[in-house]
Amino acid sequence: MSRLIRGGRVVTATDAFAADVLIEGESIVAVGTGLQGDEEIDASGCLVLPGLVDNHTHLSMPFGGTWSCEDYTTGTASAAAGGTTCIVDFIIQYVGGSLKDAREEWQGRADGAAHIDYGFHMAITDARPDVVAEMGECVEQGITSFKVFMAYKGALMVDDEQFLAVLEQTGKTGGLVMVHCENGDAVVRYQKEALEAGNTDPKWHAWSRPPAVEGEATGRAIRLAEWTKRPLFVVHVTCEDAVREIRAARDRGLPIFGETCIQYLYLTVDDLDRPGFEGAKYVCSPPLREARHQEVLYQALRQGALQGISTDHCPFNFKGQKELGLGDFTKIPNGLPAIEHRLTLLYDRSVRAGHMSIVDVVRHGSWGPARIFGLDRKGAIAPGFDADVVVFDPEVKHTISAATHVMDVDYDPFEGWEVTGKPRFVLSRGETVFEDGEVVSEPGRGRYVKRSVFEPALP
Ligand code: URP
Ligand code: ZN
Ligand code: ZN
Repeated sequence: MSRLIRGGRVVTATDAFAADVLIEGESIVAVGTGLQGDEEIDASGCLVLPGLVDNHTHLSMPFGGTWSCEDYTTGTASAAAGGTTCIVDFIIQYVGGSLKDAREEWQGRADGAAHIDYGFHMAITDARPDVVAEMGECVEQGITSFKVFMAYKGALMVDDEQFLAVLEQTGKTGGLVMVHCENGDAVVRYQKEALEAGNTDPKWHAWSRPPAVEGEATGRAIRLAEWTKRPLFVVHVTCEDAVREIRAARDRGLPIFGETCIQYLYLTVDDLDRPGFEGAKYVCSPPLREARHQEVLYQALRQGALQGISTDHCPFNFKGQKELGLGDFTKIPNGLPAIEHRLTLLYDRSVRAGHMSIVDVVRHGSWGPARIFGLDRKGAIAPGFDADVVVFDPEVKHTISAATHVMDVDYDPFEGWEVTGKPRFVLSRGETVFEDGEVVSEPGRGRYVKRSVFEPALP
């Protein structure tokens, strides 16, 4: 059966133009005018975008003695409601454990649970020689990117020796290394200093992880990538200090890539200083920054120093989870819920506010991440691509609230924000997953996507 999305304005990573989109089965087969389909979806007055790709999510992630509170069913439903049709989630290796065990655990959670397609990155937290030797098997299975953390000392952090081993191994196996850049030793020192002075509130989280801590780690990570002649993807870039390092590296011709996340474009360090313990809702790492960094992030996106805007969706309930850090900010689980709001916020706060065009939204939120992370059939409205499509109504006004969001988390960091624009229909491989405000798909229809290798092994 064919479906025709009729009368909308198609947006790609380079253009926006009036056209219809013809879908046969799971794929887009034509974009143009004068097309006919068995069934029609009315897109008049709407933008027709490739489904967004979120290459940075943490569903059911163990963190600080608890777990992020959305699983593969609720998290992918929230994604679908917001116009995201493919995620790449992080498997986390346990210290002492193998990559195979971690892979099986995460695949077991995702199998039969997801509403939309998903892939995995592998986060390596204990890069022993036998673990590094397992990386080739990950690549063979389509897990073609590896993440290391330079922060979270005593939990997820690797030292530079381990980081180098992971980079070097991708020279043999192919694959892209991703890195969380904060100097974990400095963070521990500043955390102790704050607590010893009796400074226990959420706002001290940001104080203990200043921009310089992110900038130093970013520069160091780039050096290690340069020595090993490997490309590098810097996740969740928040500030001028880090952007400066990435831009300088790219000016030297190095293949350094990076992303920011919506929370760093729209929220600020002031949110951590909300009355009472409310600031805990805004604790993520690296932390939210002063507003002046937001223009630097926009510039970096415009100039190509950063290529993606993801969410780093890592939700924890306020009650019982964020509250673990009452009286000690270092115990607040790190992360924000954001997966549902990316497209609407990008449209409302970035496009309508004049920071970027809707074409830029597609380039940074869909096409760019799909190319970097080897999602060969995602990220474009073009024949041969998966029919992952968002019909987005750019006029509808609504208010973001935990009372109405799909995310399974008891607060919303954007609570009360009045916004314009919302997906009307979302299709995943030709099937409607979201329509008129409801997720209509069954969990389990989403498929694991084997990703191709963005950067091959060294000759
Ligand atoms: O605060 C965050 N970002 N939590 C998730 C883990 C990470 O560092 O990406
Ligand atoms: Zn991180
Ligand atoms: Zn993350």
